[in-house]
Amino acid sequence: MDEKLKSRKISEIFECEEGSRVAIRGWVYRFRDLGDKVFLVVRDSSGVIQVVFEGEGATEARLVDVEASVFVIGRVRSDKRAPGGKEIAGEAMELLGPSHNFPITRDISREFLLDVRHLWVRSRRMQSMMKIRHTVFGALHGYFRENGYYEVHAPMFITAAVEGGATLFPVKYVDGSTVYLTQSSQFYLEALIFSLEKVYTIAPSFRAEKSRTRRHLTEFWHCEAEVAWATLDDIMQVEEDLIWYVVQKVLEENQDELKSLGRRLERLEQCKPPFYRISYDEALELLSMKGVSIKWGDDLGADEERLLVEEFDKPVFVHRYPEKVKAFYHKSDPKRPEVTLSADLLAPEGYGEIIGGGERVDNLDELISKIKKFGLRPEDYAWYLDLRKYGSVPHSGFGLGVDRTVMWIAGLDHITDALPFPRTLRRVYP
Ligand code: 4AD
Ligand code: MG
Repeated sequence: MDEKLKSRKISEIFECEEGSRVAIRGWVYRFRDLGDKVFLVVRDSSGVIQVVFEGEGATEARLVDVEASVFVIGRVRSDKRAPGGKEIAGEAMELLGPSHNFPITRDISREFLLDVRHLWVRSRRMQSMMKIRHTVFGALHGYFRENGYYEVHAPMFITAAVEGGATLFPVKYVDGSTVYLTQSSQFYLEALIFSLEKVYTIAPSFRAEKSRTRRHLTEFWHCEAEVAWATLDDIMQVEEDLIWYVVQKVLEENQDELKSLGRRLERLEQCKPPFYRISYDEALELLSMKGVSIKWGDDLGADEERLLVEEFDKPVFVHRYPEKVKAFYHKSDPKRPEVTLSADLLAPEGYGEIIGGGERVDNLDELISKIKKFGLRPEDYAWYLDLRKYGSVPHSGFGLGVDRTVMWIAGLDHITDALPFPRTLRRVYP
């Protein structure tokens, strides 16, 4: 083999002049032996290209199978029938890592593909999703860093519930005591605004979700922000700007991936702010016009959200949820104490909630009475209560489910398709 010839990314081959001698390395995506000719489609992280071996050269190529790793040398040739208009006329091939009977063949049921996720991550679908996900994470960081936020980190081991006790994951700690995996970094972010004012974090959150739905993971990536002095309106504005920033970045950087996933770009292009804003009460009215009656005070579930977002061609905020359906830390609307200064952001096309947030109770006595009202013990929240004792300020924040956001932006059917190794009620392998 001509070791001096440096291998190139497959995407670069399409830029090469006809007749150039090139080397690539990658994995065999498809393999066809027609006797006198052997066709290999080789893939790497940048794309796929067809390599054709004829006569003598075909002998080595005949030894490969799907997903074998190979080093190939050949000349670039234009061919109208080849995907991308170019192919490689193979001259030499080295089999680097053999592969036999790659388990993923025609039968590709959802459960099976989850069992072999460690191999399915090589698929074009997963590759496209992961490239979009990469852009989403980068854009989240980009937005906050460009807008004066500090990145902070909160612990994963905690001692008290943020989002209600039902979904806590207990962990036996080193000293034998029981601690829990975090459901949200919110309370730590609240502590940190007293130092840095505008903070954000992107970290896993854990919830022992009993519900088997298309949008629940037991371990998900949570992007949370908290801002001193901010009101509900201020924080909705931040959420809206953030989402549009992320969507624009994906539209700029991932056109190919979106198309390969069959995503209609117009559906994202039209998500330009301002987003719609409706109150919980208005949401109930809309639902009742659609024949679904929800009792005032009940939460909106996935089904109701799906129906609701049918009415909107871009994301919609639902604000001012009743006190009892939102966690204890939500501040009541002074004009209407039975509702909270809270808002969920629902994504269009049936996706529903991707962000939850709002204004926090900042008064000590009010927070203590809320904790009690929710049947919780103030002593479990001692340090959190301290934040209201020393220079309390009005503040607001939110949490965005990154996996749900990727699911929506990439147009995926199921949240487990939005990350490489999903953890759900029934799955912690591979
Ligand atoms: O609405 P949630 O429960 O809000 C909080 O945790 C707040 N403490 C956040 C904050 O204000 N800092 O969760 C926030 C978002 C949801 O809108 C959803 O997108 C996502 O986190 N999420 C999940 N994603 C996947 N699987 C789950 N089980 C999720 N639970 C929440
Ligand atoms: Mg929520």
